[in-house]
Amino acid sequence: MSTKRFDGKTVFITGAAKGQGRAVALGLAEEGANIIAFDLGEKIPYPAYNRSSNDDLEKLKDDIEALGRKAVIYAGDVRNEEDVKEAVERGVKEFGGIDILFSNAGIAAYGYSWELSLEQWETMISINLTGGFLVSKYVIPHLIKSGHGVIIYNSSVAGLRGFARMSHYSASKHGLVGLARAQAIELATYNVRVVTLHPTGVNTPMNDGLAELEGTTAIEIAERSAGNLLKTPWLETEDIVHAVKYIASDEARYMTGNQFVLDAGLLTD
Ligand SMILES: NC(=O)c1ccc[n+]([C@@H]2O[C@H](COP(=O)([O-])OP(=O)(O)OC[C@H]3O[C@@H](n4cnc5c(N)ncnc54)[C@H](O)[C@@H]3O)[C@@H](O)[C@H]2O)c1
Repeated sequence: MSTKRFDGKTVFITGAAKGQGRAVALGLAEEGANIIAFDLGEKIPYPAYNRSSNDDLEKLKDDIEALGRKAVIYAGDVRNEEDVKEAVERGVKEFGGIDILFSNAGIAAYGYSWELSLEQWETMISINLTGGFLVSKYVIPHLIKSGHGVIIYNSSVAGLRGFARMSHYSASKHGLVGLARAQAIELATYNVRVVTLHPTGVNTPMNDGLAELEGTTAIEIAERSAGNLLKTPWLETEDIVHAVKYIASDEARYMTGNQFVLDAGLLTD
């Protein structure tokens, strides 16, 4: 019987219903992992494009089960401490522990910094940054217990450079780098690794949503950052899956506290 890379592992994934989170959930399940999938059950007001649903989570569960693995799905908000706590408890009760956290839930939106409302600023920071903190707070004790945990925060190229009309997004994504670096120091002694992932644009519903808000196409949204050196407007979700599989695996056992850049050359000086 062949063994798979993530046999016996449990992975907690936020923002799992769509886009990169969904692809990673399926990619790791294919390699033997059981998945705790967390996402919004209902639409939130900002940004106006976001429309995840319970149906998306149910579909993911069916798709994971079709691969012969198990899923616990939880409809909640990464800003809500009770939701996060309950999802972690439910997952641990089902699977006995957690080995890997892919902290990926996020929103994006445009607006010049002087035109953003305080509410828009706070929504961005609380979902993209505070949500990452809150989920890690409840997952970390289980990663420590596993003796070999990994946290991957899905940041962005916007976590390593600024983008106009995205100050709140860039600030939240830079914030994840600080969170990860500090946690890498805290957790190294427990053999728990912490890494941030920095993709350039990815072909997901997020770009469709931003295009809808701007009255343009998803390709034009991707090309706006206008810095990919390699000839592609964006990455596909499979590129993110390959990166997460590597970072989360024992092949990357000495990688911690650093930034894994997947930018098609965008950040090259
Ligand atoms: N798409 C890109 O171009 C791109 C590039 C670099 C980084 N990222 C980052 O990658 C991550 C995944 O994005 P994606 O491209 O798959 O986008 P997406 O919009 O397709 O998926 C994001 C998921 O997060 C969920 N989510 C949003 N707010 C939530 C909340 N408060 N609580 C729980 N779940 C919530 C959404 O419902 C959605 O299912 C995000 O953090 C994003 O910022 C995206």
